[in-house]
Amino acid sequence: MSQKKGRFIVFEGLDGSGKSTQIKLFSEYLKSIGIENVVTCEPTSSDIGKMIRQMLSGNEKINPKTAALLFAADRIEHITAKDGMAELINKGVTVLCDRYYFSSYAYQMADMPLSWVIKINEMAKELLKPDLHIFVDLSPKDCMDRILKNRITTDIFENTERLTKVKNNFLEIFKEVGDSENILVVDGNRKPEEILDEIKEKTKYLF
Ligand code: TYD
Repeated sequence: MSQKKGRFIVFEGLDGSGKSTQIKLFSEYLKSIGIENVVTCEPTSSDIGKMIRQMLSGNEKINPKTAALLFAADRIEHITAKDGMAELINKGVTVLCDRYYFSSYAYQMADMPLSWVIKINEMAKELLKPDLHIFVDLSPKDCMDRILKNRITTDIFENTERLTKVKNNFLEIFKEVGDSENILVVDGNRKPEEILDEIKEKTKYLF
């Protein structure tokens, strides 16, 4: 007898947008209504993910092409590894993932043509396409204010100019992919509980 598959929901947003808070709150909510789920993120904690974090800290200079390929490779491992996302979903567990291929599109297209970034992520898309991408929308300035308030160190992508570019990239990508992907944009400039309420309401049909 075939088992019911878990859902695959991705949270996207700029650094500091509050997506990580939302993913945590949504996971707790799903548990409270009896839906088994796990929260995971990209870059992952695998060896490839660790190389990426080194690069993001700015300690190691790296060619943007290599960086894009590392993000894509980390993603394939994340999907296909033992106990990876695909296995969990096939077992009926819902997976909530903090960033996925739209992050690669939006961040890596600052350095590389979007068509190439899409191409190197095609395999991930074929293996595991999200049921829904939730974009927590907050202005780059508000994101930067939050990052500076909450952290001692910042990553190489964390400055208002870069975040503004990335935000525009996300919006451009949403237009370009159109109906081929399921995207929900929520206003991140509200109390966490209010944002969660909207997400709860608009994801009811998935469960
Ligand atoms: P993340 O750990 O989600 O940062 P934060 O918790 O601050 O939002 O992601 C780290 C950085 O990696 C972030 O600046 C976005 C970038 N990134 C890419 O450039 N490409 C990718 O494919 C992914 C997954 C992340």
